[in-house]
Amino acid sequence: MTTPAVELSGITKRFPGVVANDDVNLRVAEGEIHAVVGENGAGKSTLMKILYGMQSADEGRMLVGGTEVDFSSPSEAIEHGIGMVHQHFMLADNLTVLENVVLGAEPRRRGLIDRKAARRDLEALGASYGLDIHPDDLVETLEVGERQRVEIIKVLYRGARVLILDEPTAVLVPQEVEELFRNLRELKARGHTIIFIDHKLEEVLAIADTITVLRQGRTVATVDPAEVTAHELAELMVGSELPTPSTEPRVADDHVTLAVRDLSVLDGSDRPTLDRVSLDVHRGEIVGVAGVEGNGQGELIEAILGLCQTSGGQLLLDGEDIGHWPVRRRREAGIGYVPEDRHSRGLLVDAPLWENAMLGHQTMAPFARGPFLDRSGARSATARIVEHFDVRTPGIDTSARALSGGNQQKLVIGREMAASPRLLVAAHPTRGIDVGAQASVWAGLRAARRDGLAMLLVSADLEELIGLADRLVVMLRGRVVAELDPATTTPRILGGYMTGADE
Ligand SMILES: Nc1ncnc2c1ncn2[C@@H]1O[C@H](COP(=O)(O)OP(=O)(O)O)[C@@H](O)[C@H]1O
Ligand SMILES: [Mg+2]
Repeated sequence: MTTPAVELSGITKRFPGVVANDDVNLRVAEGEIHAVVGENGAGKSTLMKILYGMQSADEGRMLVGGTEVDFSSPSEAIEHGIGMVHQHFMLADNLTVLENVVLGAEPRRRGLIDRKAARRDLEALGASYGLDIHPDDLVETLEVGERQRVEIIKVLYRGARVLILDEPTAVLVPQEVEELFRNLRELKARGHTIIFIDHKLEEVLAIADTITVLRQGRTVATVDPAEVTAHELAELMVGSELPTPSTEPRVADDHVTLAVRDLSVLDGSDRPTLDRVSLDVHRGEIVGVAGVEGNGQGELIEAILGLCQTSGGQLLLDGEDIGHWPVRRRREAGIGYVPEDRHSRGLLVDAPLWENAMLGHQTMAPFARGPFLDRSGARSATARIVEHFDVRTPGIDTSARALSGGNQQKLVIGREMAASPRLLVAAHPTRGIDVGAQASVWAGLRAARRDGLAMLLVSADLEELIGLADRLVVMLRGRVVAELDPATTTPRILGGYMTGADE
C-alpha cells in the first residue's frame, strides 16, 4: 500500500464549551480528490486549520507523506507542500492578481523583487493548469470565481502538492462550480492531492474519489461515492433517518380556509403576471405550487399577503373577503408568512433573536399587552421557539446574523408557527439550508398540518413539494396549468408541465 499524502489520527481539539474535533481520523491517498462533508458545526474547518498549521490540536498525530509533522504556522505547512484556500478569501483588493499571488513569496534578484520572473512563473502556472487569469487585473474588479482561481494559483505558486479548499462552491454559481471542478480534475491529473469541504451532496458525489463524513466533531464514515446515494450520505451527516418525502395520510377536511377566485395581478405595462388564478386550500391541507421561477408564484403569494395590488378576483379567508384588507390586518387574522428572502423580508439581522421573534407579530399576544410591548412575554415566547424548533444559538440575545442560514430559517418558521396561524404561506422554506435543518422544518410543517393548518407551499425543490403536499398545482405564465396528485407524480412529470411541454 502506498503512503497516504495525509494521515490524521486521533485529532482532538477543544474550545471552551465545545469539542470541535473528537478523536478524528482522516486518511487521504496521494493524488485523490477527498471530500470532507458534515453539517454546519461538525468540525470540518477546524480539522483543516489544524492540518494547515493555523490551529494546533490538543491531541493526535499528523503524517504528511509518511513523515510526522507538528505545524505551528501555515508557513511550516507550506514548506511541507500543504496549501489552503479559505472559505472567505484573503486577497488584498487593492493589489493586482500578480502582486497578490507573489505577496510574501516574491522571487528576488540581488535582493530586489524580480517582477519579470514573478510574471513568468505566474503565466506558466496559469497555462499549465488551464487556469484563466490576468496578472495585471486589480483583485477588486474580479468576480468571485476569478478570485477563487487567484487563491488557488497563489497556493500552487508556493509549491503546494496538497490543496485544501474550504467550501469552495458555497460562493459560486453553477457554471462556476463546473469550471472549478474542471480545474480540480486537472490538478488531480497532474498528481496533486485535493481535500475539499462541501455540504452539497450532489456536488460531492460528482467529483470526489473518497468521502469522509464528520458529525458533531467525530469521523462517522469514510465512503466510496460509487457506493452511496445522496440520501444515505445525508443520513450519515445528521445521524438519523431523514423523513423521506413520502406522502402522509390525508387529514384535510372539507372546510376551505383559503379560497382564491380568479385572482389577477398586472405588471407595470398592464400585462397579467397572475392571470385569473383560482385555488382552494382546505384545513389540514398542504397545497404545493410548482413552477419555473417567475411564472406568477411570487405574485400569488404577495397578493394573498396584501403586498401587491390585484386587478381582479377575490380572496376569502374562512369565507370572509380579505381582498381589501391591509397587510397587518391579514396577518392579525391568522396568515403566517415565510418569505423567500429571509434576509430582506424575514429578519432584522442585527437585532437580537427575541426582537426578531416578534417581527410582524408585535401587535399581538404574547408580544403585546394592549398597546404596549410585552418584553418578558416576548422573551419567554422566543425561548419557546428556540427550544421547540431546535434553533441552535447561544441565547436569545444573540443577533440573528450570528446564526447559520438553517437556524435563521428555523427561527422564522418557528415565529410564524408560534402565532398559531390558520393559513401559512411559505416560499422555499428550506432553500439553502442543510439537511438537518431541512428535516426539522419538514417535521414542523407536518405537525402543524396535522393540527389543522392550511398551507400554501411554493418551492423549487420538487422532491420537497411531492413529499409534503397533499395536492400540487403547476403555474406557467401566471396561470394554473395543471393540478396533480403527489402520490402519482414524479419530478419529471412536474418538469413537463412546468416547461409547458405537457400543456
Ligand atoms: N476559534 C473558535 N473558538 C471557539 N469555538 C470554535 C472556534 N472555531 C470553531 N469553534 C466551534 O467548533 C465547532 C466546529 O466548528 P467548525 O470547525 O467551524 O465547523 P464546520 O466547519 O464543520 O462548520 C463549532 O461548534 C464552532 O462553534
Ligand atoms: Mg466551516
